[in-house]
Amino acid sequence: MTSDQVTVVLIAACWSLGVGVVGALVGWRIRRAPIRWSAGLIAVVAVGGVVAGVVGTARAMFLSTHDLSVVVLVCGVSGLVSAVFALLLARTLALSARRLRGMAAAVGAGQDVQRPVGDPAEMRAVADELARSSDRLRTAQARERQLEQSRRELVAWVSHDLRTPLAGLRAMAEALDDGVATDPRRYHRQMLTETNRMASMVDDLFELSRIHAGALNLTLQPMVLRDVVSESIAGAAPVATTRGVELGGNVVPDVEVRADAAALSRVVGNLVMNAIRHTPADGVVLVEGHSTADAVELTVSDGCGGIDPDDLESVFEVGWRGTRARTPGPDAGAGLGLAIVRGLVEAHQGTVTVSNHGTGCRFVVRLPA
Ligand SMILES: Nc1ncnc2c1ncn2[C@@H]1O[C@H](COP(=O)(O)OP(=O)(O)OP(=O)(O)O)[C@@H](O)[C@H]1O
Ligand SMILES: [Mg+2]
Repeated sequence: MTSDQVTVVLIAACWSLGVGVVGALVGWRIRRAPIRWSAGLIAVVAVGGVVAGVVGTARAMFLSTHDLSVVVLVCGVSGLVSAVFALLLARTLALSARRLRGMAAAVGAGQDVQRPVGDPAEMRAVADELARSSDRLRTAQARERQLEQSRRELVAWVSHDLRTPLAGLRAMAEALDDGVATDPRRYHRQMLTETNRMASMVDDLFELSRIHAGALNLTLQPMVLRDVVSESIAGAAPVATTRGVELGGNVVPDVEVRADAAALSRVVGNLVMNAIRHTPADGVVLVEGHSTADAVELTVSDGCGGIDPDDLESVFEVGWRGTRARTPGPDAGAGLGLAIVRGLVEAHQGTVTVSNHGTGCRFVVRLPA
């Protein structure tokens, strides 16, 4: 490069830089203005920088006035054309931004959002993100509505279920108080049974509310599955004997599981009691346990005659007890046991499923090994 060229480069760079700095300051001042202002500024700074460079160099190089005016004219016309195109581009961006604003408003209002197809990539990315947020919002709202509905149903059912035994208790207490009870001992026994049933129902409700509130305090520790199952079977054996149901266990020795002791025995206990309650006399309830590659599996099979396939998922719902009708017989539970089982198992990162098998149904609990 000759020394003349170096001088030209330096002079042009200084003048253009001056315009660039002024442009940057103006850009900073108008940074909150509509996008077309910034686009216009870019065109003005680009052309202004060229003009300033040309004029500065021409003066230093003693270019003729005629040549200089031609160059400035050419720059001015190109500048005008660039400014028009910059404004057109800005308009496209502004329209795209307006569409995004519309989308955001639709997300807020819970309406369907339509993704723009012809917008620039960045705007489309924002639009896609908005559409995903909208989907997540809808799912969360649907879940919230469902939860609210089941909470309302639960309160209604529980008040119904508590009112009936309470009315019975009051009638018996009044009869005893008036001295008109023909068989006071039977009344006392009956009152005790009802009180126990209500107490266990309130316990279950308390447990469920702790599960739903995420307030469970689980202490996970390694334990031998066979011990937990043996304990539950021993606890349930008298009921099974009374009902003529054969209760058996077949758990592979030494299978260990990491779980909360109280929670796991509640899970096994609830499943075993259900199985006994739904198996006719002379039927068999079998509890099995073994480990697989990545889990410990506990299976409770019974002879209940099968559950209607349409109801297989409903059994885990709070308040479900074989029918949507709320007219429980004397033996009916509150429909809380399996909801508690699922809540406790999921708190252990496990799963519980049910299927029909042979003459009954089979509940399978899988806990991570
Ligand atoms: N082993 C089973 N065999 C057949 N049906 C079952 C079995 N376990 C549960 N069910 C059905 O699922 C319903 C819900 O069971 P769940 O244990 O949640 O409530 P429950 O036994 O009725 O009352 P709770 O356990 O609160 O005393 C039962 O009422 C019954 O209809
Ligand atoms: Mg139950």
